[in-house]
Amino acid sequence: MMRLSARHEAIVSQVTPGAKVLDVGTDHGFVAIALVKRGIASYVCASDVNEGPLWRAQENMELYGVDFPLYLADGIIDVPIDNIDTIIIAGMGGELIAEILSKRDLADRKLILCPHTKAHELRKSRIHIEKEVLVEDGGRLYPIICATQGDNGIENEADFYISPHLREDPLFPEWVQRELKKIDQIIRFVSRGTQADAAMKKQLWYKGELEKYANLRRDS
Ligand SMILES: C[S@@+](CC[C@H](N)C(=O)[O-])C[C@H]1O[C@@H](n2cnc3c(N)ncnc32)[C@H](O)[C@@H]1O
Repeated sequence: MMRLSARHEAIVSQVTPGAKVLDVGTDHGFVAIALVKRGIASYVCASDVNEGPLWRAQENMELYGVDFPLYLADGIIDVPIDNIDTIIIAGMGGELIAEILSKRDLADRKLILCPHTKAHELRKSRIHIEKEVLVEDGGRLYPIICATQGDNGIENEADFYISPHLREDPLFPEWVQRELKKIDQIIRFVSRGTQADAAMKKQLWYKGELEKYANLRRDS
């Protein structure tokens, strides 16, 4: 049985059985390999912008006795996706994931996205979020976003940062506490440096928004 990290396991668990999957930025290929090995996906292919990761993926495919197409490509533009109904993009910054998605019409395809930083930038882009969960792995909390391409429908700026989809997640209170800790560190750093007022104002605004949820949990 192939063992996956908690984050990879959480990504794999969002794939609908029988899906035809493209894993963009596959690196080691573990997610794509698990989808084949466990018989979850009916078709799998994977891509990466760098050759090194694709060699790694190829080696792992041989190790686990699976075979599927690998593409050397920047994002999705040059990858054949006519038969693909699910696209996974994980382990990159939210801005990069948003940029990759913006370059191609992905119609009704299911997007499974796991930004490592700046998730708010991804939520601000043209994705319509259907579901989000938090997963803890290696001491960090990661959001896993299931979406389709389209209007994000978010009107409140705070919702880009504190996703409404995460507020019932069992890890949400812990996520709020960790964000507050990070903000306090940033505020200390900004107040010591020469950053403009705007940066400090944004951090104080975010702290205020987070505190609404920290206090809510304490009051209930
Ligand atoms: C940190 S690894 C994440 C690997 C795997 N997806 C995961 O979540 O564990 C990021 C991978 O994305 C690839 N990558 C970065 N920019 C990319 C792009 N524009 N198109 C395709 N792959 C990209 C990198 O080469 C690297 O292998």
